[in-house]
Amino acid sequence: MAERLSQLTQIVKVPSPSPSQSQSSSLKRPMASSLGTAASSRIFAASSSKARLCLRSSYSSSPSLISFSSSKSLALCPPFSRHQRTSAVNGTSSGRFSTVASPKCAASDPDQLKSAREDIKELLKSKFCHPILVRLGWHDAGTYNKNIEEWPQRGGTNGSLRFEVELKHAANAGLVNALKLIQPIKDKYSGVTYADLFQLASATAIEEAGGPKIPMKYGRVDVSGPNECPEEGRLPDAGPPSPADHLREVFYRMGLNDKEIVALSGAHTLGRSRPERSGWGRPETKYTKDGPGAPGGHSWTVQWLKFDNSYFKDIKTKKDEDLLVLPTDAALFEDPSFKVYAEKYAEDQETFFKDYAEAHAKLSNLGAKFDPPEGVVLDAGPTQAAPEKFVASKYSTGKRELSEAMKQKIRAEYEGLGGSPDKPLPTNYFLNIMIIIGVLAFLTSLMGNY
Ligand code: HEM
Repeated sequence: MAERLSQLTQIVKVPSPSPSQSQSSSLKRPMASSLGTAASSRIFAASSSKARLCLRSSYSSSPSLISFSSSKSLALCPPFSRHQRTSAVNGTSSGRFSTVASPKCAASDPDQLKSAREDIKELLKSKFCHPILVRLGWHDAGTYNKNIEEWPQRGGTNGSLRFEVELKHAANAGLVNALKLIQPIKDKYSGVTYADLFQLASATAIEEAGGPKIPMKYGRVDVSGPNECPEEGRLPDAGPPSPADHLREVFYRMGLNDKEIVALSGAHTLGRSRPERSGWGRPETKYTKDGPGAPGGHSWTVQWLKFDNSYFKDIKTKKDEDLLVLPTDAALFEDPSFKVYAEKYAEDQETFFKDYAEAHAKLSNLGAKFDPPEGVVLDAGPTQAAPEKFVASKYSTGKRELSEAMKQKIRAEYEGLGGSPDKPLPTNYFLNIMIIIGVLAFLTSLMGNY
């Protein structure tokens, strides 16, 4: 038992990163002061310089953009209006695709988003890249600062993560591979922004891995240049001195609460940590040595391509040394407020799925500028955030259809009164009865006078 415990509490110190690395690079650096909180976590070291080397070698020589086969579509992006863009898509016989349209930063075309989603599903089937696509979407979103009003300075889901300067942030180590995977889809659909594509890929990956349907909306506008990327250090560290405080500091800055922190952490039910990227985890375990996808890494769960609640069960029991528990994962069962949700999710997958879907949708909207402002919903369905079926006759007696803005306004007014355009407003029966009694009493008294 004692031996088992010592295995589980094994901590290997990682070489300190160079001063040039940001605060985020403490991902690679279980700090001495974190030992107390991290004692129950398994932390394995990798050379931080190796991680940096690996990143550098993946980059193009471009000072601003990661350049792939068809990087022409990534050139300067003036702020086109929605009406200026084209939805033309060209496929070549070689199977590589290129955009004919001018590059654009405006919002996405719904039909192209739907086609892109099908392509993402195919990509997932062949590459098993669900986890890294989820991480890509999260890292574009996670730079959001609710205290900054201006777009894009506030960060968030604006596609800035496509630029080299941001991909080079230590916390984003390895994400260049995710961008490489979806760049051909970006090239194929000129009418889809990076900001939307990152979020579409992430939500599709969750759903395809067996997770809940996420009530997504689209229409995110892209930033147009690397000068619009957020500064380094906005994403969380995995091994800070006080993990629970750190999680609150970072996620509260994004406008997220304790429940959302715990639910979103459940995304670690997918994927692996790789020492050569983040510095965390072991190079391989019995669950990862054969892939699927690129073998290796240290997963949080046994079936790391299946989205379920096993992350919470596994980090609670910490029974298996081949499964990873970061200090920030362990904090979910150590902090009293986080623990309430973590326990619930370990027991009740349905609640986890419901809370996760809501939190993921919220995360995917952080900092985004939507065009149109209310966003675009791709599918109608019970789990969609889209408002209920719109019945024009309930809004207007005339033949002319009302504008979307007017419909929204009317719907909001109905909802303010506790109703909806498609449901009758709640009746105050008590008041009605009182009125009838009053009228009857009045009539009776009139008749009595005759
Ligand atoms: C709570 C704070 C978080 C910390 C400290 C954290 C840290 C990490 C670290 C160190 C890795 C390993 C990266 C690598 O070596 O390749 C990782 C991977 C991952 N993270 Fe997080 N993460 C956090 C929250 C989240 C959230 C909110 C999501 C999604 C909603 C998420 C999704 C993922 C996924 C899917 C992977 C696996 C990537 C892969 O297999 O390539 N993480 N995270």
